[in-house]
Amino acid sequence: MSRNLLSAADLSAPEAQIILDSAEQMYAIQSRQVKKLPTLRGRTVVNLFFEDSTRTRSSFEIAGKWLSADVINISAKGSSVSKGESLRDTALTVAAMGVDALVVRHATSGAVQRITEWVDCSVVNAGDGTHEHPTQALLDAFSLRRRIGDLAGRHVVIVGDLTHSRVARSNVLLLHTLGADVTLVAPPTLMPAGVASWNCATSWDLDATLSGEVNGVVDAVMMLRVQRERMSGGYFPTEREYAISYGLNPRRLKLLPKDAPILHPGPMNRGLEISSAAADGDRSIVLDQVKSGVAVRMSVLYHLLAGVDQPAPVLEEVSP
Ligand code: NCD
Repeated sequence: MSRNLLSAADLSAPEAQIILDSAEQMYAIQSRQVKKLPTLRGRTVVNLFFEDSTRTRSSFEIAGKWLSADVINISAKGSSVSKGESLRDTALTVAAMGVDALVVRHATSGAVQRITEWVDCSVVNAGDGTHEHPTQALLDAFSLRRRIGDLAGRHVVIVGDLTHSRVARSNVLLLHTLGADVTLVAPPTLMPAGVASWNCATSWDLDATLSGEVNGVVDAVMMLRVQRERMSGGYFPTEREYAISYGLNPRRLKLLPKDAPILHPGPMNRGLEISSAAADGDRSIVLDQVKSGVAVRMSVLYHLLAGVDQPAPVLEEVSP
């Protein structure tokens, strides 16, 4: 594995499996009383977030801390970015303090890749514009695998605002690498340009897809947020109409096989893309996705900083 994780396409199938397998060990730590491993003691991880985040930033912070790394958070609000400092100057300044890994979120697609051209430390893409969010795809695969087993040959349906979704793009890449079949469902206005060249099927008909009429029986469905902040209007007539046509409402839930898990990366717009019946029901694995996120990010930080060829991390506890 290279020293950076910018795209889900950076990972070969064996590399993705190694990250997911190590995450399995990390996941077990969450039920221990002392959630601390000495693995990254003396290493420094900086979360550099130029865009809002609740779960991704705290998840990386907890992951780094549980591995005993020193973790610092910098957000654009409250930093010199608000004084007009350039992305390059901010990145070089932070890197000059001797950090081992920069975890970066930015509103511009490609911004995280640019940073790798300026700094020598590891860089992890925590979401760049509408481009990619590889650790989200890894945690989705991890959480899904825990629920339905090996993903090879399984059919995952991803529904919603695909045009603005970095989560969808990373998921299509990783699920394909892991051998799953993906169907993307959205209204024509929210289907990404160039989707014909992606490794997946597409449909505008959610009812038919969930019923298995489009691409076979559905093994899991992932609902995506309608990203109002990235829209300049006009993608669908009204929110009510969107909810009726593309929301996972109680009527539509009945079309989905009874054992098919429901995913959502969060934050959720309840009543728009997902009903509370779907978000809070037995099939929802939304909170397990959050839990899995910490384990997967521990695994990613471990493999980037210690190398993928290293033996599995020593999981002895730090004394309390
Ligand atoms: C996603 C993101 O920020 O890309 N959320 C997340 O990281 N859990 C999806 C979204 O914002 O809708």
